[in-house]
Amino acid sequence: MTQSLRLGVAGLGTVGASVVRMVGRRAEALAAATGRDIRVTAVSSRDRGRDRGLDLSAVQWFDDPVELARAPDIDCVVELIGGSDGPAKAVVEAALSAGKHVVTANKALLAHHGAALARLAEGNGVALAFEASVAGGIPVIKAIREGLPGNAVSRVYGILNGTCNYILTRMEREGLTFEACLKDAQALGYAEADPTFDVEGFDTAHKLAILTSLAFGTVVDAEGVSVEGISGVQPLDLKMADELGYRIKLLGVAQLAEGGIEQRVHPTMVPKSSAIAQVMGVTNAVTVDADAVGELTLIGPGAGGEATASAVVADIADVACGLVRPGFGRPSAQLRPASRVEMQRHEGGYYIRLTVHDRPGVAAGVATRMAEREISIESILQRRTESAATNDPRGRSGRPVPLVLITYAATEGNIRSALDAIAADGLLAESPQLIRIERE
Ligand SMILES: NC(=O)c1ccc[n+]([C@@H]2O[C@H](COP(=O)([O-])OP(=O)(O)OC[C@H]3O[C@@H](n4cnc5c(N)ncnc54)[C@H](OP(=O)(O)O)[C@@H]3O)[C@@H](O)[C@H]2O)c1
Repeated sequence: MTQSLRLGVAGLGTVGASVVRMVGRRAEALAAATGRDIRVTAVSSRDRGRDRGLDLSAVQWFDDPVELARAPDIDCVVELIGGSDGPAKAVVEAALSAGKHVVTANKALLAHHGAALARLAEGNGVALAFEASVAGGIPVIKAIREGLPGNAVSRVYGILNGTCNYILTRMEREGLTFEACLKDAQALGYAEADPTFDVEGFDTAHKLAILTSLAFGTVVDAEGVSVEGISGVQPLDLKMADELGYRIKLLGVAQLAEGGIEQRVHPTMVPKSSAIAQVMGVTNAVTVDADAVGELTLIGPGAGGEATASAVVADIADVACGLVRPGFGRPSAQLRPASRVEMQRHEGGYYIRLTVHDRPGVAAGVATRMAEREISIESILQRRTESAATNDPRGRSGRPVPLVLITYAATEGNIRSALDAIAADGLLAESPQLIRIERE
C-alpha cells in the first residue's frame, strides 16, 4: 500500500463529526477502494471541551484552523466550518497555498469565491473538491462533471433547500400557513433560528450558481442569480395549483436563453406528473436536461450529518486515488464569462394571484390590461372569500377577493408592466403574487 493520506478536519459540527466517524468506520473499505490508508490526524474546532462523541485521543488538536491548514504533516484539509468569508476562507486559501488538497461542503464560499479558489488550486497543482456543497448526499456534481461531458446541457433545475420543501409540503398537505410550518420546521431542527437565508432563497441561489458553472462551463456567478423566496406563498396558492394540476416548489433554475444563461430562484408551479413534483419534505432533487441523455433526475437527502459526510468522503477517496481535476469541470482559463440574462426577458407561463376589490368589471379591467400587452390568459378563476360572501350574499361586496390568472407564455417585462397598470387603475387591494410555471 502506498503512503497514507493524512486528513486535517477543520470544523467538528454536524458534518465534521460525521466525517471523522465515517472515515474511522469505513477505514478498511476505503483502503481497499483507494489503495491508501486514510486517517484523520488533526482537527480544529472552537470549543475543545465539547463532547462530540468522538475519540480524539490520538489526533492533534489545533485551536487555530489556519495553523492546521499549514501544518506540514497533513496532506488534505477538510473544511467544514462554513461561511463565505472569515475562518473558512482563510483555511481554504492557506491550505491551497501550502500545496494541500482541499475538500469542502461550503456552498457559500464556493458561490462567492469559487473562481479565485479554483485558480489557486490549479496554480498549486492540488484538488479543490466540493461534492457536498450542492444537494448534500446526492452526487450531483460528479454526475454532471464526470457523467455528462458528451452532452450539451440546456437546463438544470432543482429543489436544493430541504427547509423550503418541507414547509411547502406541509402547507400543501395540511392547508397550513407559511408561518405555522416555519415554526414547526424550527422546532424540528430543519430551520435555523434566523431562517432568512433558507426561506428567502439565498441558500438555493448559492447551490444553483455552482451547478450553473458545472453545467454550462461558465465562471460561477452568484450575484447574477435572480432570487425570490417562499414567504409570500399562501395556502390558497397551493390549493389553486392543485386544482390546476400543479404543485409549488422552490426551484433553482439555470437555462440557456438568448444572449446568455438565465439563473433564477423562485417559487415555481411544476406539473404534478413531473419527477420533481413527487419530491416531498426535506428531500432534494436535481433535473438536468441534456441533448443526449434527455431528462435526468437525481433525488435524495440534501442535508444531515451522515448524508453530507457521504459526499465529503467520496471527495476524500478521489484525493486518495490521486485524482486532481478542475473542480468546475474544466481549467479556470477555459471557463467562459457568465453572460447574464435579465429576468425581465424571461419568457414562460405565469400564475398570478391578485387581491381585487369585489366590484363589477374588475375581471374585465384586468383582462384588458393583459390583452394590451399581448398576454394571453389560459384560465381565470375567481374565489369569493367567506367574509366577502357573508357580507353580501348577492355577490358584490366591494371587499378584497382573490382573482387568479394563468397565462400562456409571456415575458416577465410585459407581465410586470400589466400588473403596474392594473395597480394604477386602483383595482388591487394588495400586492400581487406571481408564480412562474415551469413546464416539462
Ligand atoms: N448540516 C448540513 O446538513 C449540511 C449539508 C450540506 C452542506 N453543509 C455545509 O457544511 C459546512 C458545515 O456545516 P455544519 O452543519 O456541520 O455546521 P456546524 O454544525 O455549525 O459546525 C461548524 C463547526 O465549525 C466550527 N468552527 C466555527 N468557527 C470556527 C473557527 N473559527 N475555528 C475552528 N472551528 C470553527 C464549530 O466549532 P464548535 O463546534 O467548537 O463550535 C463547529 O464545529 C457548512 O459549510 C455547511 O454549509 C452542511
